[in-house]
Amino acid sequence: MDGLEIKDIFIIWKTMRFTVKIEKIVYGGYGLGYHEGKTVLVYKGMPGEVLEVEVVEDKKNVLFCIIPSKSTCGACVFSEIDYPQQIEYKKLILNEIFKNIYSNIDMVSSPQVNYYRNKITFSVEYAEDKVKIGMVENKSNKVIEYDSCLLYPAGITDLVNYFRDLLNNKPKVIQNITFRYNSDLSAIHIYFSSNQKFNIFTEEEISNIATPPSPSQRGGNIVGIVFNDKVLYGENYYYDKFAHLKLKIHFKAFYQTNTQQAINIYQQIEKFIDVNEIVLDAYCGMGTIGLFISKKCKNVVCIDDDKSSIISGLGNAKINKIKNLQFVNKNCNNVLENLEKVNTVIVNPPRQGLNKKIIQDICSLKINKVIYLSCDPMTLKRDILLFKDKGYNLNFLKGFDMFPHTWHIETLALLKFNNGDKK
Ligand SMILES: C[S@@+](CC[C@H](N)C(=O)[O-])C[C@H]1O[C@@H](n2cnc3c(N)ncnc32)[C@H](O)[C@@H]1O
Repeated sequence: MDGLEIKDIFIIWKTMRFTVKIEKIVYGGYGLGYHEGKTVLVYKGMPGEVLEVEVVEDKKNVLFCIIPSKSTCGACVFSEIDYPQQIEYKKLILNEIFKNIYSNIDMVSSPQVNYYRNKITFSVEYAEDKVKIGMVENKSNKVIEYDSCLLYPAGITDLVNYFRDLLNNKPKVIQNITFRYNSDLSAIHIYFSSNQKFNIFTEEEISNIATPPSPSQRGGNIVGIVFNDKVLYGENYYYDKFAHLKLKIHFKAFYQTNTQQAINIYQQIEKFIDVNEIVLDAYCGMGTIGLFISKKCKNVVCIDDDKSSIISGLGNAKINKIKNLQFVNKNCNNVLENLEKVNTVIVNPPRQGLNKKIIQDICSLKINKVIYLSCDPMTLKRDILLFKDKGYNLNFLKGFDMFPHTWHIETLALLKFNNGDKK
């Protein structure tokens, strides 16, 4: 091979650079352009920019590129853009995805634009001479560290800095650190996940982390520290206020990360429900939607396959004295076919969307209303088309910005069977 080895070819390919003009913004955090007959998707490329880009992945006719001169943190694509413009871009993306299905889709801004996350997971990387704690770079495993971030409050940065020093002289076993907290940091929960069972912290270290003056100099109050599944300090849960509800949240339970925007979405969902309906909250997490709308319903059945979430949900029904709510800890795939009495189904699946069997079950029961909350507009569109094929009409579609500065888009849809005619 004329002295060239595979690794040299890889290096040549990896550093392939060219200049491209970004024509428009598309879903996934990419600006779209063209180069020598191929589509170019540039991570963080914005419309109108002319950029020198570097290829990181060559897929058939699409070149995925990064901009070497821009920061490569995996999370924030839009952080350098004014918030109103971010909303305009997200609206454009949604309207492009759903063209021919629904027009003039609006996007509701996040009530809180900065530091809105109530949970953040950091990766830990053991570099040769120091520990790195941060977010993972797009399309790599490299950890990027920041002195400050728009997604989480400064008190959490203080804790990260403290742990960076603490972990320097410890066995290299911690993979992730997850912080969950309420809005004024009066309750912070810390979860270390490790590839080893043994705990690496001494009692004195745990006490130093947890008791005042705590490493969080901004007034945070640590209420629990868990190492894998072992509680080292406090509890394996914390409390948060969610509109009229008091929530006790297990450290592994699913909880929407932007509390104020989640409340906006649930208020919209509540408007879709008629008084005294029987509602199924499928993929319920800890049943926060079910708990929120229960006062309007005759009965709500909440289903999720995650045990920690269901345990939190049961506890929260009790704390909030809600009696017309049942929890089922099962896979949704096999339960929907038995639910003839249900008037409305709420689905909020992970990114991959609904499987065909669930859609088939809902359609064959001709359930009047399907309320679909989705974190991936592409799979939402696929599923809406399947519902439409079976006689459902799309009566409402709106974006809610749950994740300012990032490319993620949350979308809420309302589908009605036979345009709302009762079965
Ligand atoms: C986006 S979260 C739902 C959150 C919840 N609706 C809320 O607003 O807090 C998706 C949930 O689906 C659950 N899940 C994923 N696949 C499932 C399946 N096949 N059956 C039941 N639950 C599933 C996960 O455990 C997770 O709690």
